[in-house]
Amino acid sequence: MTSATRSGLIVPLEEYLVHEVIMGMLSAKYGGSALVDRWVQDHQKDAWRKQAKASGYRARSAFKLKQIQERHKIIKPEDSVLDVGCHPGGWAQVAVELVGSKGKVVGVDLQSCIPVEGANLIVGDITEPFTQQAVLDAIDTEVIDVVVSDISPHITGKWDIDQAVSLMLVADVFDFALPILKYGGHFVTKLFQGIGVEELIELVRPHFQTVKRFSPMASRNSSSEVYLVCKFHTPKRGPDWEIRPAFETALEERQGGPEPLDDVEPAKSTFTIRKRNTPKE
Ligand SMILES: C[S@@+](CC[C@H](N)C(=O)[O-])C[C@H]1O[C@@H](n2cnc3c(N)ncnc32)[C@H](O)[C@@H]1O
Repeated sequence: MTSATRSGLIVPLEEYLVHEVIMGMLSAKYGGSALVDRWVQDHQKDAWRKQAKASGYRARSAFKLKQIQERHKIIKPEDSVLDVGCHPGGWAQVAVELVGSKGKVVGVDLQSCIPVEGANLIVGDITEPFTQQAVLDAIDTEVIDVVVSDISPHITGKWDIDQAVSLMLVADVFDFALPILKYGGHFVTKLFQGIGVEELIELVRPHFQTVKRFSPMASRNSSSEVYLVCKFHTPKRGPDWEIRPAFETALEERQGGPEPLDDVEPAKSTFTIRKRNTPKE
């Protein structure tokens, strides 16, 4: 035996044994503390990065899409795929491999990517009408087979803000892409776990036959990200309102309704209250 499996990665046996010995020593010293967890996380992220480099992928995130595909079979040869938040191009590389020469991959991101052969990668903000039109032009068919979105907003470091912004972005991507997703098509998106996730999933659920959360091995150590795998689009069954406004309303309701307004100026009215003339006695 020359190799062993660690968290789904094939690693040389010697490296695996060294890893196990070090883990034993760290656990004995720190007793399974957060420090050990952190060490493991960094080490495993590094291993995925090395594996990505060795396989010619631009980012370790490529393995997340590969593992989603392995489990859920979302992309098939000749499909047309929209890749939202495609920079630096790892998912686009995997999508091109999966659709083959008769398929189509269109990607979009705020940042420009080094070209990926077989994909058309557009620079722009997917929430902007101008970019949306460019994407529609590039797709050049009425409907698309699969949407994959790894979109994440610029991280400010303030967790609750980042998480809330990311869910709003996801809602926007659904609103743009659902009308062009074919009947029976699939939609995969990254979510950051936290407030609002359940509400968003409930709004999306009626649009698909199945909606499942999936945590690929390659992202298990990175915080709270999870992927929502929505399969078999059912356009006629889903409600016809937009996801984003409905999501904002759901969040308001969760917080007990809209915030009360500060002092409200009384509206001007022509209505006057007349004093009734009561006859004098
Ligand atoms: C985690 S990266 C995607 C990695 C990619 N899946 C890969 O494998 O190479 C998330 C991307 O979402 C992009 N993004 C964030 N907001 C966006 C928006 N409004 N429109 C388009 N892309 C956006 C970011 O620029 C970032 O490159």
